[in-house]
Order: sequence, then structure tokens, then C-alpha cells
Amino acid sequence: MEPLFKEETGGIIQFRAQLTELIRARTPLIYLGTIEVKRSLEEIRIVSSEVGADLQIFNLASGLLTAGREKTNTDPIGVLDMILNHAKKSTLEKQTVWALPLFHLLLRQPEALILSKLRDFIEFNKFMDTVIITGSSDFTLPPELSDVPAIDFPLPNRQEIKALLDCSLAEKNKERIEKAFLGLERHEIENLIARSLVRKGGIELETIESLREELLQKRANDCLEIHFPKESLDQVGGMETFKQWLEQRKSAFFDAEALQQWNLPPPKGILLTGVPGCGKSLVCKAIAGSWGLPLLHLDPSKIYSSSLGASEKNLHDSLRVARSVSPCILWIDEIEKGFSPTDSQTDGGVSKRILGAFLHFLQERSYPVFVAATSNDLSSLLPEMLRKGRWDEIFFIDLPSTKERQSIFKALLQKYRCPLEADDDLVSFSEGYSGAEIEQAIIAAAYDALFRKSAIHLFDIKRSLRAIIPLAASMKEKIENLRIWGHAVARPVTHGRNLTANAGNVLPFTPRVGEPA
Ligand SMILES: Nc1ncnc2c1ncn2[C@@H]1O[C@H](COP(=O)(O)OP(=O)(O)OP(=O)(O)O)[C@@H](O)[C@H]1O
Ligand SMILES: [Mg+2]
Repeated sequence: MEPLFKEETGGIIQFRAQLTELIRARTPLIYLGTIEVKRSLEEIRIVSSEVGADLQIFNLASGLLTAGREKTNTDPIGVLDMILNHAKKSTLEKQTVWALPLFHLLLRQPEALILSKLRDFIEFNKFMDTVIITGSSDFTLPPELSDVPAIDFPLPNRQEIKALLDCSLAEKNKERIEKAFLGLERHEIENLIARSLVRKGGIELETIESLREELLQKRANDCLEIHFPKESLDQVGGMETFKQWLEQRKSAFFDAEALQQWNLPPPKGILLTGVPGCGKSLVCKAIAGSWGLPLLHLDPSKIYSSSLGASEKNLHDSLRVARSVSPCILWIDEIEKGFSPTDSQTDGGVSKRILGAFLHFLQERSYPVFVAATSNDLSSLLPEMLRKGRWDEIFFIDLPSTKERQSIFKALLQKYRCPLEADDDLVSFSEGYSGAEIEQAIIAAAYDALFRKSAIHLFDIKRSLRAIIPLAASMKEKIENLRIWGHAVARPVTHGRNLTANAGNVLPFTPRVGEPA
């Protein structure tokens, strides 16, 4: 299966086509967003030779290089003069491409002279030479150069990664190692391979994964944590319909060819709502764990700042990190905390702008970020957030059914290494309890057993359950309303849940009508 990412990030083929078109059109100045000097110069060389243009490279550190020979000119202003003079003498027959790697460093606090020379080049050099400045992908050109076309440089795709890897790798690990390298730049991949060779004498999956973790952690910021969850969907009890649905989306997420064949958009993500403690957060972690992708945890409440423009920048920076780490899962817990409408009079319109930017991201992004958001209160979200097209699906996680509680017990008893199997009596006794409440009962029972230094029994768990008043009972009305609302607007994670007629019937110890078979 070919990953989606080749097409998603533009892919090297598309990139070459884009650059070829711009050079053929004799675009005077192009900005290429990458700090990968070596790899980008290789590509510029290929494209220049394809269009029959000469290539000159000016490197800030070593000066102007022609065909690998070093020249002495290391003065950027002198080189810009030379480029301007050259362009004046150029003919339509012979074009020169001037590559200026990392020249953005001189445009951060630009000298007026450098800016005006670049501007002159754009104005007076129509249809002659082309200058390509490369630099950081998040760098914004100064306003005087805002009309310069900026293009992204694609990260290495699966083919390129394969080529970098040792062919003698075991087939199973090879796939996972290739996957671990997706989203990294080539020099980062080479560095990881070299470090694994030094540490382990080979390219070893665990070493590669932990080195990648270290590398990606550095991209985290105040609003965004990066995790590599160990949870998997097997550890989530119940939710069979939802798990099947995820399996479908997973294969689409990793299979660009099939998507292209059907002209389908790539999976965007899910919005989860439900009864508190029924596994919304767990599921988000488990998707990342099962799909083998990093989990980016965005805390929407941390986006807001009192300094002017800082909130917008926080969101922008976080989404940029998501893009740079992609393919990944972007987890937004309690989305209403950051992306609900507030009075624009009081916040100067900040929340409106943040919401607008986020909705745009949800709808328009073209890179592989699967958004997994949770909400405890869908009614506080704008209809725009809930409308079709923003999410692949909105799911409702209800209190677990009998069958689901059976599998929750199984998963949790295994998690806490209790050598027990829940019997029908315990399962029906836990009617109306959430997964979190069942977990709490198991933990309490395990503590009891630990304290009295004897084996844990099912009746310990039953006793602990009895000591817990489930939310479905203590906040009966609220939970009932939430369930009615949830079932009306979202799709249940379990087949056969049809609540509206029996919504009141959620108290523990009372059999429910409409249980799934
Ligand atoms: N279906 C389930 N299978 C296995 N464990 C579960 C399940 N549901 C809940 N749990 C257990 O309960 C814990 C708490 O669940 P989680 O935090 O995912 O609930 P939540 O829906 O996010 O709650 P909240 O609305 O309070 O954020 C989980 O870490 C897990 O151990
Ligand atoms: Mg949660």
C-alpha cells in the first residue's frame, strides 16, 4: 500500500512540475520553503537542466559556486549586483537560474539595499533569469516581496525513504521503520539511521522510534504536547461499529492510490461526544497507538493569550507543527473550550478569528492530519463546526451495553493483571456504570486485595462498584438529556443503540430495553 503522503505534501513529481512551470514562465523570484539545502539544490539542478537553464549557486557561507568550483565572491550585495547585471544582458534563448540557499536569513531584518535590489530584479528582469531563494518553510517574506510565489518542498516519500534504507531489513520491521521516517526531512532520516548504526550496529526499529520521538518532541510548544501512545484499540472495550468504521478510514488514510481512483478526499477526522468517562479520550490515544502515528495533544484553552495577536499566532504555530509532524493524529480534548463563539465585543474579535482559522484548517488542509476531537457539550458549538464536511463523522459514546461492559471488564482486568473473568452477575450488576467507573471499582478492589495480601475476587469488585454512585444516577437528568441530544445529532459507536424511546431507563440495576443483540 502506498501512503497518502506522497500526494498530500505535493510529492516530488508534482513539485518538479510546479518548479518547471515557474522557471519556464521566467518567474523572476521564487521562494522555496525548506532548510534542506543539499536535497533542494539537487532538485533545482534537475529542473534547471530539464528546462535547459544554467545554474549558479550562491551559498552564504562559501560564496558563489559554479559547477562545484568555489569562487571568492561571498558578499551578498555584490552577488545581487552581478545577478542584476547578468539579467540585463540575458537573452530569451539562454536563461540562468540563481539558487540562493538560506538567503531568508538576510531577509529576517532586511537591509534596505538587499530588499531594493531584489525588488529591482523583479521589476526590471521580466522574462529573463530566475532567482530561487530557499529558507525556512514558516518564514514570511517581507511585504515588499509579498507578490513572490512561495512553494513548499516535499518531504521524502516512501520511495525515497526505501532508497535510504538498507535492503537487508526484515520485511515486517521495514514497513514500520519506513512509516517512522514519514514526516521527517532527509537529513533527519540520515541522522537517525547513522545513530542507530552507531548504537545498535544496524537499523533497529525501537531505536529509530525512540530517536524520532526525541526529535519530534522538540517541535512541541506551550499549546501542543507530542505523545507516542502505547494504547491500542484492542484495549478499548465495545464500540464495535466505531472500530469497524475506523478500520475502513485507516486503510483509506494510508492508501492514496485507492483514494485517487475513487476521487475521494482523504479522511479528515472525528468529533466524539458522549457520557463522561465512557472512553472519548482513551479512543483518541488508541487510534494513534493502533495506527502507529504521533499524537499531538492541542489544549484549546492554552491558545488564548492577552497579548495582541499572540492567540492567533499560538493557533497558527500549533497547526504548523501538526503539519510538520504529519502524518499524525491531532487530538483536541473538549474542543468547546477553545473553539466556541464568545462575545466579540469583549475579546476584540479574537475568538471569532481563532474559530474562523480553525474551521478553515478543518475543511481545507491537504496534508495528512487526522483530527480526533472530543466535546462534552455539542450544544455550545456553532452549527458551522458540526456541519457535514468538517468531520468524517460525529460519534456518540453512550453508557456501555451489557456486551460492551463484558469486553470493558475483559480489557481492564487484563490491564490491572487481575486473573479474573467477569461473570454475568457482575456484568449485569454494573448496568449504568461508565468505563471509568468500572475501572475505578477494579482499582479499589485491587488495592483491597493488595492490602490484605490475598488474591482479588469478583465480589471485591462488586463491593467497590456498590460503593460508587454512577453519574447516570447522581446526575440522572443531565445524563439523560445528554444521551437524548447525543443520539439525535451523532452516530452511536455501537450498533443497535436506539435510545430516544427509552432514554430515561439508564439507572443502574434496571434492565434496559433496546440493548444491542
Ligand atoms: N470502553 C472502554 N474500554 C476500556 N476502558 C475504558 C472504556 N471506557 C472508559 N475506560 C476507562 O476509563 C478511563 C477514563 O476514560 P476516558 O478518560 O477516555 O473518558 P472520557 O469519555 O474522555 O471522560 P471525560 O468526559 O471525563 O473526559 C480510561 O482511561 C479507561 O481506562
Ligand atoms: Mg476525556
